[in-house]
Amino acid sequence: MMETTLALTFHILGAVVWVGGMFAAYVCLRPAAGALEGPQRLRLWRSFFAKFLPWVWVSVLLLLASGYWMLLTTFGGFKGAPLYINLMQAVGWLMIALFVWLFHGPRLKFKRATDAQDWPAAAAHLNRIRQINLVNLPFGLIVVVIGGSGRFWGF
Ligand code: HEM
Repeated sequence: MMETTLALTFHILGAVVWVGGMFAAYVCLRPAAGALEGPQRLRLWRSFFAKFLPWVWVSVLLLLASGYWMLLTTFGGFKGAPLYINLMQAVGWLMIALFVWLFHGPRLKFKRATDAQDWPAAAAHLNRIRQINLVNLPFGLIVVVIGGSGRFWGF
């Protein structure tokens, strides 16, 4: 079905951008940025978040809109949705809640502290962002495997 193909396209792109970005941030940028001096490192993260996090918002909106569209049409509603779809929704909402907290809490405080050149405070807020990402990245990897393989589970 054309519409389902389109919805899946947005869904997959949202997942790839969000989870891939979290992976690159934690596994690649973090060690790379570790070589920089304190203020420079914090400024790098500040501009990384300013550029990446809007894409996470786009991804979240695309994932939700396409996911629930498929659930309601292609899958015929919430009732009788297979286990993997419910798992995807559950972990997906956990990820979204953690992201919303990260964005409005530690990310905002980190941005303000960096702009005020309060480096110890900025470093502390950045550490909280890191901790949240340390939870959300494995969640994201798990959801991608659930979403991609679930249709073959047979239950
Ligand atoms: C929160 C609400 C969500 C809903 C209602 C939802 C719903 C769906 C549905 C209906 C499918 C199609 C399943 C199939 O074709 O067998 C799907 C697939 C998928 N979803 Fe979600 N999803 C949600 C969140 C997420 C999140 C947060 C991610 C990843 C960050 C994600 C990643 C995937 C992936 C990778 C697929 C597989 C696509 C494929 O097989 O080609 N979903 N989802």
